[in-house]
Amino acid sequence: MTQNTSISSATQSRPATARRAGPLTGHMDVPGDKSISHRALMLGALAVGTTRIEGLLEGEDVHATAAALRAMGVNVVQDAPGIWHVDGVGVAGLHAPDDVLDLGNSGTSARLLCGLLAGHGFTAIMTGDDSLRKRPMNRVIAPLRDMGVRVETREGGRMPMSFTGTDSLLPIEYTLPVPSAQVKSAVLLAGLHAPGKTTVIESIATRDHTERMLSHMGAEIVIEETPAGRRITITGQSELLPAAVKVPADPSSAAFPAVAAAIVPGSEIRLTGIGMNPARIGVFTSLAEMGADITYTHERSEGGEPVADLTIRAAALTGARIPAERAASMIDEYPVLAIAAACASGTTVFEGVGELRVKESDRLAAIETGLQACGVEVTTDADSITITGCGGPPPGGATIATQLDHRIAMSFLVLGMASENPVSIDDIRPSETSFPGFADAMRALGADITEGNPS
Ligand code: S3P
Repeated sequence: MTQNTSISSATQSRPATARRAGPLTGHMDVPGDKSISHRALMLGALAVGTTRIEGLLEGEDVHATAAALRAMGVNVVQDAPGIWHVDGVGVAGLHAPDDVLDLGNSGTSARLLCGLLAGHGFTAIMTGDDSLRKRPMNRVIAPLRDMGVRVETREGGRMPMSFTGTDSLLPIEYTLPVPSAQVKSAVLLAGLHAPGKTTVIESIATRDHTERMLSHMGAEIVIEETPAGRRITITGQSELLPAAVKVPADPSSAAFPAVAAAIVPGSEIRLTGIGMNPARIGVFTSLAEMGADITYTHERSEGGEPVADLTIRAAALTGARIPAERAASMIDEYPVLAIAAACASGTTVFEGVGELRVKESDRLAAIETGLQACGVEVTTDADSITITGCGGPPPGGATIATQLDHRIAMSFLVLGMASENPVSIDDIRPSETSFPGFADAMRALGADITEGNPS
């Protein structure tokens, strides 16, 4: 059984419009972390026994992972809203799926599942929606081929793909050619099945949720800081033990209300239990450098991840240079930070952002064309974006094509909350992939978002 999570028919599009309203105030419960939710389901599936998960993100991307695991014989159950359990089948205990695995919009599902499937000697066919089928898979397939898997893809390493794992994987040492937590995770998950030690070296640190959770579940994993970068070594063929997982609120989702509160005059909002993993919070560092008023309280550790409560108040922002070294720690947050930059005074430069071309859409182009349509001066080159801030409300007054990209959809609604004229998006449905109920949650803070064709 597969669950079709794809948004495919333009005729079902749900346009939405955001307009300037009063200040945003109050508290928002930000949904669970997407990256950690995928990993909790996948590692829970490989454990021996039952993994209980609290705060799981119930967005479409995570449902795609749950559906794929069910299709391979794993019992994945929702006990109550946000409370789930997974009855693990043990490392290498998955069954061949009897139909295509449709991973919808979710790159994390597709790439991490490759690692999970690598040590299983069966064939699985994987596909996704119009966005996911355009995204490069070779970056994850290349190291897994070195380990012994066989993969056929469409031209350019695109899905659909036929993926055949093996129960005799070779351990490898692999230096990441691009900073990608998905590629790192796929190799480490494959390494779980391989005899001996599999090592990944990353010269730029990427999110380390896989390493943290593998270690939380008893895997033998060693992390060393070396002159070449972080060296992560997993010893394969040991069992994973089920462990309770508490999923923090997603800092990537928190960035939308945080930027909205920073740019809508008079706002003050509170976001609680937000994940503060150092490899994820570049957006808050950047906002603070731009003059945002963010305070952190109740800093604590929950389920092996640092979390804190955030209070964000509106402030006059100024442009900043956001260095390439920070890109991995805020790779998903550039679209919404671009909105903050459009409202700031002075120029903001995002350096080292070429990876944005291969996200759910070409985000470099989406930021450029979307902001220009809203009257903001923007230039891009292969690896950077320069935004000339309006020093206050940008003109707005455009309809943005969201191109099946949740973060483009939500970012431009945030722009509409602060711009002179309303901003519309052609489809709000993609926001459900990572932030179910985004419009309602923003309305509860005082935002004016309406659905239907712009009048
Ligand atoms: C993710 C890693 C990042 C990020 C994606 C989630 C993960 O992708 O953009 O939304 O959960 O590992 P890359 O690994 O391609 O940088």
